[in-house]
Amino acid sequence: MVGNFSFAFNKLLISGAGSLFDLKRYIPMAGGRVGLITAPSFLNHENGTKYINRLKEYGFETLSFTVHGEPTPETVNRITDELKNIEIDIIIAVGGGSVLDAGKAVSAMVPVDGRVEDYLEGIGDRSPTGAKIPFIAIPTTSGTGSEATMNGVISRKGPSGFKKSIRHPNYIPDAAVLDPTLITSCPATLTAACGMDAFSQLLESFVSSKASPASDLLAWDGLTRFVSSFDLLMGDLENPELRAGISLASYYSGLTLANAGLGVVHGLAGPLGGFSEIPHGAACGTLLYDAFRMTLNKIRVAGSERGGAAGQALDKMARLGSHIEGRILSPGDGCDRLLEMLKGWNEKYKMPRLSDYGFTGSDLDKTAGAGGSKNHPVAFSHEEMIELLQCRL
Ligand SMILES: [Fe+2]
Repeated sequence: MVGNFSFAFNKLLISGAGSLFDLKRYIPMAGGRVGLITAPSFLNHENGTKYINRLKEYGFETLSFTVHGEPTPETVNRITDELKNIEIDIIIAVGGGSVLDAGKAVSAMVPVDGRVEDYLEGIGDRSPTGAKIPFIAIPTTSGTGSEATMNGVISRKGPSGFKKSIRHPNYIPDAAVLDPTLITSCPATLTAACGMDAFSQLLESFVSSKASPASDLLAWDGLTRFVSSFDLLMGDLENPELRAGISLASYYSGLTLANAGLGVVHGLAGPLGGFSEIPHGAACGTLLYDAFRMTLNKIRVAGSERGGAAGQALDKMARLGSHIEGRILSPGDGCDRLLEMLKGWNEKYKMPRLSDYGFTGSDLDKTAGAGGSKNHPVAFSHEEMIELLQCRL
């Protein structure tokens, strides 16, 4: 069944070693002023110097801004205020998901009035217009897929903390540039956490109640690419070919999450990240196995109608399990094989406990209350979300 769906892509995707410096492939104008939003680790690295020189040779004056950690409203407003007084032609973000989200929000805020918090979902009372400065996203980690999504996530930490998005279909970066040579120095712990984020996004969107033939196609390619490369990459971190495979899977995860939605892992990772210092990838990674173990139990206990969201999710998980095993398994054995792989990753890559980040039993009710099942194929009740969080305390 094809059904009724829409699917939004970037206008341009560039992939390949060294593509960062191949400016003519992704900058649509010759000369002007660029706002470069990045992390200190890129700016202070020889690649950062080389990149700014290359932009200069190409006729661009560069104004650089660095972002530390997940972007706050203050970070976005500070950079926006500086750029509003200057005629800026293009914004380029080079960095992890936080840097890309900051760049996306700045490109959206420069042409409009107000503060970014005015436009955040569930926080502000203004609707994004879609106006923006042309924006190019160049990831240096393989995780969030922000280079493909239409939202920039902005956080405030603490008891009244939040993690909310400024969102509009026009905010999908005009170009995404995947250069695996930028990612080869990403350390093991970060590679594992970012990888678990990308895999969660692929799996949640694959089994989502909003999945479409287009999202299934990309999610399947991303999932199978991921399972054949990830363990090899964790043992050979500087391998550019393996990095390129995970980078593409991560990019697909951004497209599929933006178009098919996510599930309960991200439904809880959001509030966890707002209330504590747990990095997003670690939050997803730690919940992944138990979330899908509980999902499968719920579907098995309740039974599933063929063709319904739960039945389709069961079929898809079984198909993925057979792919992992390399031979056709029964639906039950296929699902169990998938869970076995997730459990193995949990142990092998030492996914953290929530208590490692100061999370306690008294935080369970508040976090579950702020969480949700999103488009998970079976809804998790408040008590079931508490049970899931408790598994990882
Ligand atoms: Fe994520």
